[in-house]
Formats: sequence, structure tokens, C-alpha cells
Amino acid sequence: ERIPLVEELLAKMTLEEKIGQLNLLTPGGGVATGAVVSQNVEAKIKAGQVGGLFGVASPEKMKVAQDFAVNDTRLKIPLLFGSDVIHGYKTTFPIPLGLAASWDLDLIEKTARIAAIEATADGINWNFSPMVDIARDPRWGRIAEGAGEDPYLGSAIAKAMVKGYQGNDLSLNNTMLATVKHIALYGASEGGRDYNSVDMSKVKMYNEYLPPYKAAVDAGVASIMTSFNDIDGVPASGNKWLLTNLLREQWGFNGFVVSDYTSVNEMIAHGLGDLQAVSALALNAGLDMDMVGEGFLTTLKKSLEEGKVTGDQITQACRRILEAKYKLGLFNDPYRYIDASRPAKDILNEEHRKVAREAAARSFVLFKNHNNILPLKKDIKIALVGPLANNKNNMLGTWAPTGDPQLSVPILEGLKSVAPKATIKYAKGANISDDPELAKNVNVFGPRIEIDERSPEEMLSEALSLANKSDIVVAVVGEATEMSGEAASRSDLSIPASQKKLIRALVATGKPVALVLMSGRPLTIPEELALPVSILQVWHPGVEAGNAVAEVLFGDYNPAGKLTATWPVNVGQIPIYHSMKNTGRPATTESFQKFQSNYLDAPNAPLLPFGYGLSYTQFEYTDPSIEKKEIGQGESVTITVSLKNTGNYDGEEVVQLYLRDVVRSITPPMRELKGFKKVFLKQGESKSVSITLTPDDLKFYNSQLDFVSEPGEFEVFIGTDSNATDKVTFTLK
Ligand code: IFM
Repeated sequence: ERIPLVEELLAKMTLEEKIGQLNLLTPGGGVATGAVVSQNVEAKIKAGQVGGLFGVASPEKMKVAQDFAVNDTRLKIPLLFGSDVIHGYKTTFPIPLGLAASWDLDLIEKTARIAAIEATADGINWNFSPMVDIARDPRWGRIAEGAGEDPYLGSAIAKAMVKGYQGNDLSLNNTMLATVKHIALYGASEGGRDYNSVDMSKVKMYNEYLPPYKAAVDAGVASIMTSFNDIDGVPASGNKWLLTNLLREQWGFNGFVVSDYTSVNEMIAHGLGDLQAVSALALNAGLDMDMVGEGFLTTLKKSLEEGKVTGDQITQACRRILEAKYKLGLFNDPYRYIDASRPAKDILNEEHRKVAREAAARSFVLFKNHNNILPLKKDIKIALVGPLANNKNNMLGTWAPTGDPQLSVPILEGLKSVAPKATIKYAKGANISDDPELAKNVNVFGPRIEIDERSPEEMLSEALSLANKSDIVVAVVGEATEMSGEAASRSDLSIPASQKKLIRALVATGKPVALVLMSGRPLTIPEELALPVSILQVWHPGVEAGNAVAEVLFGDYNPAGKLTATWPVNVGQIPIYHSMKNTGRPATTESFQKFQSNYLDAPNAPLLPFGYGLSYTQFEYTDPSIEKKEIGQGESVTITVSLKNTGNYDGEEVVQLYLRDVVRSITPPMRELKGFKKVFLKQGESKSVSITLTPDDLKFYNSQLDFVSEPGEFEVFIGTDSNATDKVTFTLK
């Protein structure tokens, strides 16, 4: 449906003015993620050559830029202001992989809502989030930015985030355009190396990788960002099948598509021609806005004259940008997001910090509680050691360009404030890494890995003497923030050697040891998991890091997070995920079997399965049952299990349901997540938990890419993680 105001405007616009709207620039000053930063931005805005800006850091600067657009251009078309508000604006929440581990959709939506309130208070009206790329290769650093390996959970989270950012009404001044990214398959880059090629069958795409993007489209997401990789040999930004056939024709998307940072220009390096050729390819494919590269700005007119693109295509792309501006209400008031009174009350206020603390605590995953040393007593003598124990620079996590690391609460401070009666002494113990080359590569956005002036031996001996004088050791170890994230692929996923040595030495003191493990991705930690230690995985927890960690260590909150990406034993097992298929020669024992599908030197099973996470209490599952043993096409079916908290604490459990379609026309996964429910149980309490499978949950894309369910037997597993063994079956007629 056409918007009259937009159509009137289009009728008045020259070709140059239309092309100008397709141009997205960043003037620098923020975080640039490519080699290019836009030049002469002011002059270009005044010349009507800019549709939007991103990476502009303050409302004052935005006001100046909006003035240029509104006062100095012929048609006074306001600018869009974009930004990467990935896991909070100034109130930084845990990294998205951590937030996902909460399995709490309301909470995730709330974090997105708060991010939108804060970002819009600072003048931003367009968010480059949610990132929903399915990632099954933890070598890829951007696994930190998404929800993990699973399309079912990933779709639910995509929807919650779009709702949080956009609300029900985009014309309010505290909602913003969301952007689902990066379409498509970016998380499947070969070898986990960022920006690398992707090659995938359509059946795998449709069933396993595309659902979260589609869920965002179904939720009404306003824009979509293309990925850097190729799909079937054509980079996403120039891929007509992707941007037109799939997105527009099959999914009915009616927002606008923006490229990633210079991804149009990068098609030159991909081998698809010069700037004019790749820009024409992108417009023909269905791309509407060109981020930073200026290929549209500088070549589309020539391509039109040469008949390589049409005027209608340019008008259509421009229409979509103008429609987005209209939806935001910018034609009514270009300054509606620029309100000097808002930042002080809306940004990083107490209420938002409280949610950040809650979200962080809920994102933590308890891997192991050796001798039940956790939770800690509040009057205990603690040796707090590790390079991440008193460190503000690494709490926020990757891709938090709008957050301020100096506002974060370090773990030491959090422990002291939650347990003022405890005796807490700190020693660094080791560097995050002793490798100066790694430090240089990681420290691009600031000092994340700081190599101490003292020798490693000196630091270690200080930590050990402290440990020997304490009741317990809490060691905060793991990755620096920029060891994961964009362009932060790793080929070795272990804890850096300096810290492994520290951990071993601490354990050798014989004192009880609790490891607080930080990372932006699954790590390979078979050695640490086998040690007599407790391990709490805390990701990068955000601005309230220390308070949340303390709350969980001291038992004010009982951890309930569950992994949303499988943790491998070693890098050789990657890719590894819960919904793998059977082979024709499945291994049937844990020991090696010749001519079966297994490794000579590693198990098939991961170190920690998808869905895994312990609690300070225990849960017992009994009596799984199914409402009916036979259902017809189009019918739902409910599975019920009885859950009892048999331990000594109140707690939450994420009840998970996995489905196996035993026989179907294309090889089925061994099991796939198809439902979950997070429930709270008081100590000793029992609840009956029901999860309903809808007709769509039984469907898959067959080799014709039709979304169907096929008659036959289904197995349903229900339990605490993806290894759940409680089973019921039913037949679809
Ligand atoms: O939004 C990001 C994207 O995720 C990676 N490249 C840069 C964009 C804008 O900052």
C-alpha cells in the first residue's frame, strides 16, 4: 500500500535526489569496522546525497547533521540515524549469546525495549540489531553476537528483540527501526573465519539457517542487513534470489534492505566486476541502501544511462527509505528523537541497571559444582584471583560501542558490595595472555589484554600465597572481550596458556577453587572441567558484571542458564550441534569402532551439550506422558512431565522438548529443540509442566522446499538438556 506523502515527494524528486537517499554514511568518531570512513559528510548532506548516518556519537552532533538535511537541501528530507545497539545502549546487558542462555524471552524483550528507550533518548532511530545468524562454529568470533546454534530458539529470540525495539508503534519517540542481520548464513563461514565463503544446500538453509531471519520478518522488522558472504556463489549484497525471490516474493518483506559496511564494493574483491558493475548488481538484486561504499552514489546514474539499471528500480529503493522515515514520523518532526531533556532521565538509570544485573545473573551457566562449594557463605575468606577479577575493560563484551567500560562494576567491587562481611583479597595471578602479538591484535578498541610489568612468576607466587591464606579461591579467567566478536576468529579455543597455568597451580594448593569463566563463545576446556573445581560460565556480563557474579556466587540468585551452543571437546569436532543427523554408520559405543562414523582420537559427544546447565538445587523429572498417541494433520499435541525440586534451594529449570521425526523423505536430525518452558520451583515443590507441539513444529522443508509434515512416528524427548532420555511417542496420520 502506497503512502500518499511519500508518493508526492517521489514525484518531486530528481534522479540525483533519489540516489542520494540510498546512501548511508558514517563520519567516523565512533567505531569503524572497515578500512573506509566517509569523507566530506557535511557537504554531501547539504547536496542531498545522504539518506542516513550512523556511528554519530551525540545528540548535539545529530542535531547539527539534521539541520543540514532539513535546512540546506531542496526537499528538506530528514536523515535516519543508525547505530549498533547490540546488547544495550549505555546500560550494557550481557553479550547476546549470554542473554540467550537465560531462555527468558520476556527478559530478552525487556533488554531490547530498554536499549531502544536509551538509544532514542540519544537521537538514534534505527538499530542494527538483532543479529540472528545461526552459529555452529565457535571459531567464528561473532557467535557472541547471536543466540547460538538453534533455529527454534533463535527464531523466538529474534521475534522478542524486534518487538522490544519496535514496540507496537514505530511512531512513538522511544521505539526505533530494528534491522535483522546478516542475511544470510553469515554464521556458516568456512573454517569459522570471518567474512569467508559459505556453501550450503537449500534444504539445510531453509530448515536450519533461515528460520530466525524469517521470524523477524514475520514479526514486522523494518529493515534487513545483508551479509558479507556469498550464497550459491553470489555475495548476499548482489544476490537476487536472496533479496528478491526469497525476501520479497516468498516472505513478503516490505521494509528496506541495507548492505553491510562496504559489502557492495567488496564484491569487486569477490571477483564480480568493477564498482559500477557490482553496484548495478546490488540494485538489481533488491538492495536499497549502500552502507559507506558510495557505489550507488557514484555509479547508478551512469548505469541508468547505459541501461544497466532502471529508473523504476531507483525509485523503488528510494520509496522504501522514505517509507521508513515516514513510519518513524520524521516528516512530521525531524527532531522528534532529539530531546535534550531525555538522556539524563532515560539513560543508564537505576531501573535499567537493575535489569542489567538481573539479565546478567540469569545468563550465567553453572557447569560444575565440585563438593557443592557454591553458593559461598557471606563471611568467608576469599582469594579473588585472575586477570579478569578486577578489570573494567573486559566486562561489557564485544560490540558494545555505545557502552562505557569505565561504568562497569568489576567482580572485586561486586563481591565486596554483596558480601561486606567477607574478607576478600585480590591478586591478578596471570595476564589474560602473555602473547604480545595477540594483545596487539585484540587491543584495537582499547586495552583489553594488558601485559603486566611484573614477571609471570612474580604474579603467580603472589596469587598462590594469597590462596594459601584463604578459605577458598575464586578465579576469574577466560577471554578478553575482543577475543570474540567481529574479525576475532580463533583457531585454538582453549583458555590462554598463562591462565591455564594459574588454574593448575591454584588447584595444586588444595584449596577449594571456583572458576568464574568469561568468554564470548564456547571454549574447549576438557582439562579444566576434569579438575576438582566448580565452574560458573558468565560470558561477558555487561555493565553490572560484578554485582551479578557476586549475587550468584553468594546464592542470592540460584543460576539457571542453559547453553545455547554446544561446547566441543576440541576444535576438531567442529561443527558440532545437538540437531546433527544420523549417519548410515552410526557409532554405537563410546569406544572407537572401525568403519563406523567416529574419530580415532576424540569422542563424538561434545564436552557440554546444548541446553546444559546446573543449578544449586536438583530437579527430578518423572512420568512423561502424551495427551494422545495418534494425531491428524493440523492437530496439536501436548506433552506433560512432572518436575520436582528435590534439592536444598529454590530454583528455576528450563524444561526442554526435543523432537525426532523417525522416518521422513529427507534425512531427519536425531533430535531438534521444539519447545521449552522456564519454571520456578520452591524447594521440595512439584509441578506438572506441559508443552504443546503445534502443527508447524512437525513440519520441515522437503526437497521441493515445501513446508510439510509427513505421516509416521515421532519421538519426543523431554528433560533438562539435549541429552534428555525421557521419551514418549506418537503417530501423525
Ligand atoms: O552493523 C554492523 C555489522 O554488524 C558489521 N559491519 C558494520 C555494521 C555497522 O557498524
